[in-house]
Amino acid sequence: MKAETIAPLFANNRAWAASMTARDPEFFLRLSRQQAPQYLWIGCADSRVPANEIVGLLPGEIFVHRNVANIVFHADLNCLSVLQYAVEVLRVRHIIVCGHYGCGGVAHAMGHGELGLIDNWLRCIKDLYLQHANELDRLDEASRLRRLCELNVRQQVANTCHTTIVQKAWANGQELTVHGLIYDIRDGLLHDLEVSTNDPRQVPSIYRLQR
Ligand code: CO
Repeated sequence: MKAETIAPLFANNRAWAASMTARDPEFFLRLSRQQAPQYLWIGCADSRVPANEIVGLLPGEIFVHRNVANIVFHADLNCLSVLQYAVEVLRVRHIIVCGHYGCGGVAHAMGHGELGLIDNWLRCIKDLYLQHANELDRLDEASRLRRLCELNVRQQVANTCHTTIVQKAWANGQELTVHGLIYDIRDGLLHDLEVSTNDPRQVPSIYRLQR
């Protein structure tokens, strides 16, 4: 199969690389030697939520993991590997778990439909709904989705903090803060959910690594 159908992407790419080089002739050469990002972004795969653009960072400045509904699942080797590499090798200072309002994954988990394999991935959001059903059931549908998007970020921040990777980093005295943000696709603005965690004492005892 010919690659003609994605020809515009190559044209965009050449123009982008040329503009980056025009601005900073050493840019790609410098990046090719090493990456030293300060941030790990764990966000939704949604095409409207591109990590670098939203926070105005260049290639090399943010390490990115995205999946449907920005889930940090304790047995997901993909997410855990990204987390471990970012924390232990790159030694990022901040982990940003970023959800977004209007998340299709969260909306699907709130309903009763079937999409296929992904229903299994999103099951943990149904579990989360059940935990907060008293609060959520009282809201109208739009507010319920917004609230569950926020609750999902809070849960994924907690899940990140409960991993052996973050626990070990803290036990070793490494400076590491896990933040929970939510992005509004209607106005392009990020909001801090104020659940930043940088100390094992903020985490329930059962998850704490003690040495
Ligand atoms: Co989403």
